[in-house]
Amino acid sequence: MKICMIGSGYVGLVSGACFSDLGNTVTCVDINKDIISNLNKGIVPIFELGLQELVIRNLKQKRLFFSNDVSNSIKRSDIIFICVGTPTKKNNNADLKYVYNVVKKIKSNLNKYKIIVTKSTVPVTTGDKIEKILNTKYNKNKFDVVSNPEFLREGEAIRDFQYPDRIVIGTNSHKANKIMKNLYLPLIKKGSRYINTSRRSAELIKYASNAYLATKITYINEMANICEKLNIDVHDVATGMGLDERIGSRFLRPGPGFGGSCFPKDTRALISTSNKFNTNLSIVKTVIQSNDNRYKLLINRISKILKNKFKNRKITFLGVTFKAGTDDMRESPALKLIPKLLKKGAIINYYEPTGSKKEFISKKIMCNSNIHDACKNSELIIIHTEWNEFKQLNFKKINKNKNLKVFDMRNLYSPSEMLKSKIKYFGVGR
Ligand code: UDX
Ligand code: UDX
Repeated sequence: MKICMIGSGYVGLVSGACFSDLGNTVTCVDINKDIISNLNKGIVPIFELGLQELVIRNLKQKRLFFSNDVSNSIKRSDIIFICVGTPTKKNNNADLKYVYNVVKKIKSNLNKYKIIVTKSTVPVTTGDKIEKILNTKYNKNKFDVVSNPEFLREGEAIRDFQYPDRIVIGTNSHKANKIMKNLYLPLIKKGSRYINTSRRSAELIKYASNAYLATKITYINEMANICEKLNIDVHDVATGMGLDERIGSRFLRPGPGFGGSCFPKDTRALISTSNKFNTNLSIVKTVIQSNDNRYKLLINRISKILKNKFKNRKITFLGVTFKAGTDDMRESPALKLIPKLLKKGAIINYYEPTGSKKEFISKKIMCNSNIHDACKNSELIIIHTEWNEFKQLNFKKINKNKNLKVFDMRNLYSPSEMLKSKIKYFGVGR
């Protein structure tokens, strides 16, 4: 099939490369000229495990193309995936201006029947609006608008694409459903579940899933808070809960709070939708509030660890992105923690495994190219992300300070082992 991905960011690029790897001819389009020119040379703009190899392999096989020419790419394709960003507006609604810009382009290039797929996360009823825009008397029977939400985790996006738990296709059109099912057949044959729902259901499945996962994380974070008061290890609680198959063990890892390009934005957008349709999603509202305030609890904890003395004390962050396996800083908890600590007078150093320098945090913080330099003379090491390279550190070797303290926000170490090694160690919920 001839496919066009409009928007070559995390979602468009990963999905496009994976579709081409299944044997389809795919053009990934972007308005950004640098991104496309680099991609044509096999240079991938984002850090995602295995993506560079996948792109290069399919470029060589001439199944994967990159272009800035939106109109021609649309004309040549049978299926068009809309993968542009849908950031949060000031009023918490999803900003759909990029989506509608793309729809206008599609409208003026509908030269034959095409399936228009929203892969970007769009509020429920957006598909209806897109259909209305495209529905002119010249375009009758020339298109179907389908919702096919993505469930790709950054850092594991290729695996999530190739082995999805489910493929959701929202359309009432038999023709479109048949074509979409055929497109995903290689994955269905490997055992992935395929469900066909109404378009609105598919749109809501995406928000409902992300809000539920965000709730699960927030729930265990709040359990961690009470565990700290009661001298209980939250991991015992999570394990005991997770063994109940009705609950399940995944997404019960406590940490600095959820961040990233999806959970914060999608929970906010879901609240906007619920307001529009006069429904009170009180659980999701509480989840947003709890997560937004989590950094304050963490700052209090750091305050206790440092006995409220911050002035000129060196604090090292190991990892600043919103989680391991990505170079994405969007809504990372570090973006709230670091400015607060700087304001209190601390000196911040950090080491980021992706190697990318996050200059936009503040000029006052120092980026080190290795763990040793970042931790040298530090009084407090904060393990902020769960990269493998942070899991077996010899703290005594990387820092000679007898008073060194380690605040492990991802609970990568065993408190009893750390006690044996005489390291002043603090985790979350234990
Ligand atoms: C996607 C989805 O769009 C979002 O709704 C979902 O919840 C998360 O994933 P993502 O792929 O992370 O977003 O966005 P980003 O990495 O910002 O990529 C979007 C790309 O679209 C950018 O490269 C941008 O240049 C491009 N773009 C934007 C266009 O090509 N045309 C436009 O009109 C606007
Ligand atoms: C998410 C969705 O999981 C994915 O299906 C898609 O919709 C895009 O958004 P992503 O944001 O890339 O993926 O990462 P994810 O692994 O879901 O983690 C999101 C945030 O939750 C991170 O900040 C992570 O550190 C945090 N998290 C996750 C926890 O704190 N504890 C957990 O147990 C799991």
